[in-house]
Amino acid sequence: MTTAREWIELLGLEPHLEGGYFRRTFQADHRARVRTPAGERYTLTSIHYLLTSWSPIGHWHLNRSDILHFHHHGDPITYHLLLPDGTAETAVLGQDPARGQLLTLAVPGGVWKASHLTSGDHGLISEAVAPGFDFADMTLGRPADLVARFPGHEELIHRYCRPSEPV
Ligand code: GUN
Repeated sequence: MTTAREWIELLGLEPHLEGGYFRRTFQADHRARVRTPAGERYTLTSIHYLLTSWSPIGHWHLNRSDILHFHHHGDPITYHLLLPDGTAETAVLGQDPARGQLLTLAVPGGVWKASHLTSGDHGLISEAVAPGFDFADMTLGRPADLVARFPGHEELIHRYCRPSEPV
């Protein structure tokens, strides 16, 4: 079985700001860009994304775009979502549908997301982002802002905020 360290080497992954490792695998530069309220974007981009035993958390962040997540290899990844209506949802992305794991998870733009490796050495996924990813469309979660926006979810918010974010 391919290990986390081998995947990082084989796929040329680099540390991601949110936690874990990534590399962009596709951007639709053969098409005209689409106009969005925040500027012009590729119609679609995609990355490989890996969580590992030593970097097991994708910390809270928000994206304007819709993101499809596809599980490729390894252990399940748990997703925590905070929805615009103030409620929380959990989903597990993995290879075992008989245990309720999803092969594909869609997270619409405007939903806050955190993820963590449920167990084991690594979970390898792809994320397809439409309109294409741009840093200007992403907000990293600050605990105080999230707690004010989502009262009742303090523990969940603090558990998956980046340690460097001011409280
Ligand atoms: N998250 C989803 N797609 C991307 C991407 O293309 N780049 C970065 N840095 N993060 C992403």
